[in-house]
Amino acid sequence: MSEQVFSKRILITGGAGFIGSHVVKQFVKKYPNYLILNLDKLTYAGNLGNLHDVEDAENYKFIKADIVNSEEINAIFQNEKITDVIHLAAESHVDRSITNPTEFVMTNVLGTINLLLAAKQFWPKNQGNRFYHVSTDEVYGSLGDTGHFVETTAYDPRSPYSASKASSDHFVRAFSHTYHLETVISNCSNNYGPYQFPEKLIPLMINNIIHNKALPVYGAGLNVRDWLWVGDHVNAIDLIFHKGKNGETYNIGGDCEMKNIDLVHLLCNILDRKLNREQGSSAKLIHYVTDRPGHDMRYAIDASKIKADLSWSPSYRVEQGMEATVDWYLENENWLKNVTSGEYQSYYDKHYLQK
Ligand code: NAD
Ligand code: TYD
Repeated sequence: MSEQVFSKRILITGGAGFIGSHVVKQFVKKYPNYLILNLDKLTYAGNLGNLHDVEDAENYKFIKADIVNSEEINAIFQNEKITDVIHLAAESHVDRSITNPTEFVMTNVLGTINLLLAAKQFWPKNQGNRFYHVSTDEVYGSLGDTGHFVETTAYDPRSPYSASKASSDHFVRAFSHTYHLETVISNCSNNYGPYQFPEKLIPLMINNIIHNKALPVYGAGLNVRDWLWVGDHVNAIDLIFHKGKNGETYNIGGDCEMKNIDLVHLLCNILDRKLNREQGSSAKLIHYVTDRPGHDMRYAIDASKIKADLSWSPSYRVEQGMEATVDWYLENENWLKNVTSGEYQSYYDKHYLQK
């Protein structure tokens, strides 16, 4: 049998993580003419169990590799004839960046440069090859009570995580200007949904409520985040990859600002109902703990550009999205048990027992 010829051979990095696994699954299923190569180091945050749906698909291949290793990356570009990159691999948790910033520089900055250098080396100019960097709204810093981040907002990263993502965004733009690499960048607000590792606010709270453990709310719980259903982010990535303009940046957000404490109460109420607990009983688990150092107060995205230029809009309202998310975690307790064993447990205990 002759080998199938694919119209694109897309390297998706970080495809075993939360957002990356949703991107991989959508692309494998929707685009049988593309070969999707999922490159992931499988850190604590990467889990091949997120990809059961597609692991046997003919247009899917997994490659275990570290983006910090440039020789490995160059060999993959050469051997696999990579035509495009959608880059999501990163260290992604702000709290971990505060305890170990160097790891964030290595993966998020050096790893991104290694991919950019490989793209520059293996893609002759103007052949339609595209390098897409998936980034965060946290590069813009922190807002007061009013205002929104737009694509032209000056960068003002304030955590080691956001500093490393800002740096990698700058390198992507530098490669676009200096070497004419075709690039697009998106800066997205906080995602939630199935398969999110339970160190981030929403899955951590769901997991702790299920197990009757304390709910650690940082500071007064008044910090605001703009929440987006992960599937809406994936649709935006799909559109930007295919239709975004070369060299452009797109902000992506859910039009859904919430104070942390209100979100935690919402999750408590949903779980009280679903677990047949007395209303108000899970909220008794809320503990106000020492604030995160340098904690950004408010993020809010103005997503007018992607709405106008690419006809994207978020589909899930927060109440609907939180119900669906809670249902998924309740139905997938084995997944939770699996990812919260081992390394997670020791990090969690060290991080939270001191608070
Ligand atoms: P995640 O932590 O769930 O997954 C990251 C993945 O990258 C994991 O599978 C991990 O194994 C892999 N990885 C880490 N270091 C690697 C290395 N050196 N080499 C190869 N693979 C490596 O992250 P996520 O929440 O899915 O975020 C994905 C991307 O989206 C990140 O770049 C993040 O900055 C960005 N982002 C996330 C959010 C969010 O709310 N989660 C919002 C906006 C942007
Ligand atoms: P997080 O999910 O870590 O995302 P980010 O810091 O990238 O926005 O945190 C979301 C918000 O929730 C943030 O304001 C910090 C807060 N938070 C808590 O109050 N308690 C927690 O246990 C965690 C993980 C986060």
